[in-house]
Amino acid sequence: MLNECGGDRIVDIGSGSGRPMQLVLTELAKLGLRPQVTLTDLYPSPEADSSPDYWPEPVCATNVPPVLRGVRTLFACFHHFNPPMARAVFRDAFAQRQPICIFEATSRTPPAIAAAFAIPFFVLLPAPRVRPLSSSQIGLTYLVPIMPLLALWDGLVSRLRTYSIVELQALTRDCAEVSAGALQHFLSAWFAALGEKLA
Ligand SMILES: C[S@@+](CC[C@H](N)C(=O)[O-])C[C@H]1O[C@@H](n2cnc3c(N)ncnc32)[C@H](O)[C@@H]1O
Repeated sequence: MLNECGGDRIVDIGSGSGRPMQLVLTELAKLGLRPQVTLTDLYPSPEADSSPDYWPEPVCATNVPPVLRGVRTLFACFHHFNPPMARAVFRDAFAQRQPICIFEATSRTPPAIAAAFAIPFFVLLPAPRVRPLSSSQIGLTYLVPIMPLLALWDGLVSRLRTYSIVELQALTRDCAEVSAGALQHFLSAWFAALGEKLA
């Protein structure tokens, strides 16, 4: 995408701690790409204060400040948006003519949904090795297993909310309306200016 757009800037949306982006940059560097990255979030991470790459103001995916130009990336957060909001995310990128890449680690397929039921084991098995280890952690993992159940719920809901490619394509259909609206706006402004000149 960076090569195709001839850009060297990434605006990461919903960055959270921003750590996954470090992995992405390492992989991009292997391809010889060293883009400039701005991390953003609706709730900027406390680490934002110490990172020059983190935009300090809240940034909503549906209304990214025009000053933040570059390929927009969203890692593991698009499934958090309901359809009207997801549509608005695409509309904003389209209206500002900025490329957008959606990355999800989950999918709404039967194997992925079935695999979610293994999630509690990934909480139960390594829990004793977590450091620092507290008695409440052990209690909420093994005695009253809230932690494994929460992880299962989160994994299951994330999978069920992940958009399919067909749904993502449908969500971008609105962008044609943005185009038509923009063209209509441009033409009416142009005709108004012409009318004033001729009057
Ligand atoms: C599951 S976390 C993903 C964080 C990071 N991208 C990662 O891969 O680790 C989802 C992030 O989306 C952010 N978020 C939620 N609603 C948002 C919105 N409307 N605009 C921008 N970010 C939003 C949350 O604050 C959270 O940091």
